[in-house]
Amino acid sequence: MTNDRGQTGTSGQPAGVDFVWGASTSSYQIEGAAHVEGRGDSIWDRYCRELGKVQNGDTGDVACDHYHRFREDVALMRELGVNAYRFSIAWPRVLPRGRGAANEAGLQFYDRLIDALLAAGIEPWVCLYHWDLPQALSELGGWENRDIAGWFADYTALVARHYGDRVKRFATFNEPCVFTLFGYGLGWHAPGIADRAALHKAIHHVNLSHGAAVDVLRASVAGASIGAIHNRQPCYAATPAKEDAEAALRLAAYWNDAFPYPQHFACYPPTLLEAIEPYMEPGDLARIARPIDWFGLNHYSPHYIKADSNLIGATFGPPPDDVPRTPIGWPIVPAAFRDTLLDLHGRFGLPIYVLENGTASEDKLDAAGIVQDDGRIAYLQGYTGAMGEAIAAGADVRGYFVWSLLDNFEWTAGYTQRFGIVYVDYPTQRRIPKASARWYADMIGKERRQMVPVGNNVAAAAEG
Ligand code: FCB
Repeated sequence: MTNDRGQTGTSGQPAGVDFVWGASTSSYQIEGAAHVEGRGDSIWDRYCRELGKVQNGDTGDVACDHYHRFREDVALMRELGVNAYRFSIAWPRVLPRGRGAANEAGLQFYDRLIDALLAAGIEPWVCLYHWDLPQALSELGGWENRDIAGWFADYTALVARHYGDRVKRFATFNEPCVFTLFGYGLGWHAPGIADRAALHKAIHHVNLSHGAAVDVLRASVAGASIGAIHNRQPCYAATPAKEDAEAALRLAAYWNDAFPYPQHFACYPPTLLEAIEPYMEPGDLARIARPIDWFGLNHYSPHYIKADSNLIGATFGPPPDDVPRTPIGWPIVPAAFRDTLLDLHGRFGLPIYVLENGTASEDKLDAAGIVQDDGRIAYLQGYTGAMGEAIAAGADVRGYFVWSLLDNFEWTAGYTQRFGIVYVDYPTQRRIPKASARWYADMIGKERRQMVPVGNNVAAAAEG
């Protein structure tokens, strides 16, 4: 995959400049070991135990048992040839009650994981929060309580102190728009609240926590490279009706702007300001808008939005009939990914890392022990191709991480949706790289060979 200058890879970076190819996961979705070695409950442990919240009554109790099998998973990544692995730290594993006494066994787990990654030549990218809030803090109001900015800063300080000698890449939050809107506004995710005040408080307190964490990391980790991870995508109206067009604008403000705007521009989108203002104190926007080093993007597909009677007046509608979809109905529109990357570049001007992209598919292990996930390969080809187009058009994209390394616990869908490039046979916990894993490894290998400076490219020449 060379661009029109014929000298670069998908990354579009000048020959010799590193482009990061990685894989992403999150703690609750893969670790399991939910009740061992001192881990406290998270809001997702609780939510899963509520009847009817998660398909088939699935829980993250065992998940991929990564807590015990991480060495095998690191070895898989080494075979894939990824340069980086993005994972999250489970706050309740290192601080079982969210604050106060730390759990040594939990801290040591991430020590072992980080050391294994570094020994395999894979850079650890740590996300501080991927939705598993300690239950004990939820009982104090969770993201609705302004004190959480201090609790989050203390948790960040613990992480920085323990791992900052070996980890330099930190993300504060994964998809704050999703866990606030779904968890506090629409009642679809843990902790299952649907309340206007709760939603707007949560948005503001997550933003304050982000700013506080950036300050802690900057002060305590030499050479830290800090970002946040946002899910950003075009929000189209599902029909030509005026009310759907208005609903699309409303949803886009929550989805695309409620976090990046205060974090980068020290302002809330005008349509949200009135609802959030009652929870703001003087100086808050300056506390939130701390300089960061990169923009983390998660992107899967565009949204098609329609009006609704819920508290934001908008919900997700079906895509038009002629838009192709993944087996779980998510629209496949690589051009929207390209446009999102270019829009981000123009709007925020920061280096961009794509920290999630991928698809669920109906993967089956066949009699020969193979998972032939051609649909996923086609999706990844389309989306990495679109990224190449964005880079060729000037977007400063520095890395791409596939979601996900492993099939895992997909929130309210439980284990019914497989997003991994590695198949997990849950009864035996056997890992079987899918055809897409081989495709990804080949693509990374090819891209890397193309990026070695011309004239120095002995190995690439030898491999043809
Ligand atoms: C993202 C989440 C991730 C996973 C993928 C499919 O919104 O960050 O945990 O659920 O979607």
